[in-house]
Amino acid sequence: MSKKICIVGTGYVGMASAIGLAELGWSVTGYDIMGERIAGLRAGITPYREAGIDEPLHRHLASGALSFVTDLAAAVRGARIVILTVGTPSSADGSADLSALNAAVEALLHVPLAPAAIVAVRSTVPVGTSDDLAARLAGRARVVYAPEFLREGSALRDFLHPDRIVVGTDSIGAATAYAALFEALDAPVLMTSRRNAELIKGVSNAFLALKISFANEIANLCDEVGADSGDVLRGVGYDRRIGGAFLAPGIGFGGPCFEKDVKSLRHVAEGAGTGYELLRAVLRVNDAQPLRVVAALERELGGLKGRTIAVWGLAFKAGTDDVRDSLALRVLEELSRRGARAVAYDPAVRSAALPQGCRIAASALEATNRADALLLLTEWPSFREIDPAALAASLRRGLVVDGRNLLDPERFAAAGLRYRGIGRSLDPAARSLAVAG
Ligand SMILES: NC(=O)c1ccc[n+]([C@@H]2O[C@H](COP(=O)([O-])OP(=O)(O)OC[C@H]3O[C@@H](n4cnc5c(N)ncnc54)[C@H](O)[C@@H]3O)[C@@H](O)[C@H]2O)c1
Repeated sequence: MSKKICIVGTGYVGMASAIGLAELGWSVTGYDIMGERIAGLRAGITPYREAGIDEPLHRHLASGALSFVTDLAAAVRGARIVILTVGTPSSADGSADLSALNAAVEALLHVPLAPAAIVAVRSTVPVGTSDDLAARLAGRARVVYAPEFLREGSALRDFLHPDRIVVGTDSIGAATAYAALFEALDAPVLMTSRRNAELIKGVSNAFLALKISFANEIANLCDEVGADSGDVLRGVGYDRRIGGAFLAPGIGFGGPCFEKDVKSLRHVAEGAGTGYELLRAVLRVNDAQPLRVVAALERELGGLKGRTIAVWGLAFKAGTDDVRDSLALRVLEELSRRGARAVAYDPAVRSAALPQGCRIAASALEATNRADALLLLTEWPSFREIDPAALAASLRRGLVVDGRNLLDPERFAAAGLRYRGIGRSLDPAARSLAVAG
């Protein structure tokens, strides 16, 4: 069997997939309509920050196992499997915008594909999409839907250590050939229908989002009843039937996947006339959650007009420079709307389109210098290392609102700072005396 694989779309997922497949011994050609991105990748320059990909990228470029082209016909030549990893963002009505995917498939109809080629869709799509694509490509390629579950910040590691490989198709031959790409990995393989595979991806993200919204609701309740959400959710998460992952309160889920995927599933469910109630609630809770930190600042400062707020974190989560649908940007918009200025610092984000009155500082302490309060929005571990005493000396009103429950309230209180978290009690009696294990 040919060792050549083609990847169409070299963004976050396509890049990690291309390098990951080269690591697994395949010969990979990446194709993208963004010539600049391809030129950069050919020179070994990644378009974004991602842990651990530079070294294997350079190694596989040098060995010839990895190449990048802007000519689709050349990219697919001799490739038995063509993997589609183009973006599927949200449309205004919440449905998935499939225009890039449709354009990629249309382009594939105009280039010669290898005999018995397989087109594997890894973009996240609504149920039924890949059956439609299979009909369009009938006679030219068999279509597999194979969802990707990697996370930005650990994309290559996740690609090479998946919890499962899901292969959706109606052809056992295509499923077996696709699964063979990952033969070297120790992961269960689930072969199923394309529709099931599409739902597995959407439902997985919806369930993780549900856990986050649930944790936020419980944290908000804890704030009102004098309890500590850290201990409550830790105690709940120890239950193996529930698990502690994603039970972390904060400003909500942002980024390029969760919100759009829940909206897309809600759109599908609304069309089907059932299954949308919880999805609606998950999104409603998430829309309201970022406003809580703004309200906390407003309350504690006696108004926001004319105030300067230092903001730590712009990326949608730690470990990435991706600000797509970052809730930090939504919070900045709200601060600006209420008349505050924001000075933001993020270890990975050097530039971003910010609302009026907001600017980016070169360091965490430059951001806090003479600011009225500090608002933490991304859970970068390096923020924990900053000396609260230095912070107390630079902040004008000594207020810290921690939108990720990252900082140690006691250290901040000891430095004379007023600390506010999400569902975090400041009363020692409300928290655990000691936590074993
Ligand atoms: N980012 C994640 O963490 C993640 C994780 C799992 C799944 N996904 C899903 O994977 C898909 C890709 O996400 P992403 O974050 O990598 O997107 P991205 O925007 O980073 O990358 C998409 C790439 O596709 C290219 N492209 C667009 N149209 C094209 C075409 N017609 N032909 C060739 N290339 C084209 C773009 O230029 C871009 O480089 C989405 O469906 C997303 O939901 C993303």
